[in-house]
Amino acid sequence: MRFDVLVVGDANPDLVLRGDVRPRFGQEEQLLSAADLVLGGSAAITAAGCARLGLRTALLTVTGPDIFGAFVRERLAERGVEVLQPAPTETPTGLSVILSAPDDRSILTLPGTIPALRPADVTDELLASARHVHAASVFLQPALLAGLAGVFERAHALGLTTSLDTNWDPDGRWDRVVPVLAHTDVFLPNTAELLAVASGDRLSTTGPLTVASGDRLSTTEPLAVGGDSVEQAAARLVAGGTTVVLKDGARGGRAWWPGGECAAPGLAVDVVDTTGAGDSFNAGFLAARLRGPAGVGPAGVGPAGVGAAEAAAAEAAAAEAAAAEVAAVGAAGGSGAGPSWSGGNGSGVAGGSGAGSWGGTDLATAVAWAVAAGSLSTRAAGGTAAQATVEEVILSVR
Ligand SMILES: Nc1ncnc2c1ncn2[C@@H]1O[C@H](COP(=O)(O)OP(=O)(O)O)[C@@H](O)[C@H]1O
Ligand SMILES: [Mg+2]
Repeated sequence: MRFDVLVVGDANPDLVLRGDVRPRFGQEEQLLSAADLVLGGSAAITAAGCARLGLRTALLTVTGPDIFGAFVRERLAERGVEVLQPAPTETPTGLSVILSAPDDRSILTLPGTIPALRPADVTDELLASARHVHAASVFLQPALLAGLAGVFERAHALGLTTSLDTNWDPDGRWDRVVPVLAHTDVFLPNTAELLAVASGDRLSTTGPLTVASGDRLSTTEPLAVGGDSVEQAAARLVAGGTTVVLKDGARGGRAWWPGGECAAPGLAVDVVDTTGAGDSFNAGFLAARLRGPAGVGPAGVGPAGVGAAEAAAAEAAAAEAAAAEVAAVGAAGGSGAGPSWSGGNGSGVAGGSGAGSWGGTDLATAVAWAVAAGSLSTRAAGGTAAQATVEEVILSVR
């Protein structure tokens, strides 16, 4: 097994501008106080976070033959993420220009390569090289989304676990994600996204929700109605077998699964920039789940692409410490989740020793890791600059 996690989705540069950023037309020149070109895209930021937390990480994404594409690939390689590209393309790399005012921001996005990924690009061979597959920003990638249920179904058949962070839907057609949830072990929305997905049938114009028979979310009644509380919305999705892990901003995170729930408060940090915090949150969750209470062993947690013996030794020591710590926290947690939670939305993958298992870290620990990774990532501008190391997360969740 080459990778702990295969992340599938978007990667693009974010050009973050600060200062006098509210545009005034009429050929006026306005002066900025800062311009930072940083790695953007939910999938890319999640992948960078996973690699920093010691997971062997691959990112399947499409970048163009231009300076923005090279920038993205270099930043990811620097972080030890293996970038996999389906096929060369002439399409320009996507770009977001973020006009960042202290109180608000505006985002101008060129989709470029962002929607280019196809379900068939996620081949069985690629899936078979990883323990887990995570998909991000699927509403920005309609072609991928249309076949993502099939991709996750194949992943389950190959013994992988699956997770999904839809991020926001600019089109408001939330019902499109419902068929995917039937094959999603862990769904990682923020509050607005959870409520929107759970009421997706109401937002769609096609009437009550129905999905292919055999799917666990099949229902003759509407899956959800608008006006749900967060708890009701989560319960509706959990009833389909999905574990819901909610990002709750400064408040932290919560999770619901068949048979239990837990919460972890946000960390008090001096927030510089919350861009990508949700993506770093995903990375924290995945790292805890995939490293497992016993760790995945020094050989399995080395940051891919970092060859130095010192780095490997340091990482091995950290992994050992992390494993011990995670085990201790897990034992103390006693949330009712039990350390042997096996998850699986029809995946047929039991927790424990199977090749496709998560590794078995309990969910309460994983949510604490997620919150710590999300909160710590806000310490600097951009999504990846302040992403947490294993040591930092362990100190934070103590
Ligand atoms: N102001 C904040 N203070 C501390 N932690 C934060 C803050 N904002 C976000 N976080 C952390 O980042 C996580 C994800 O942020 P959130 O804004 O909820 O997600 P998203 O960016 O996907 O909307 C939170 O669960 C929390 O751990
Ligand atoms: Mg998000």
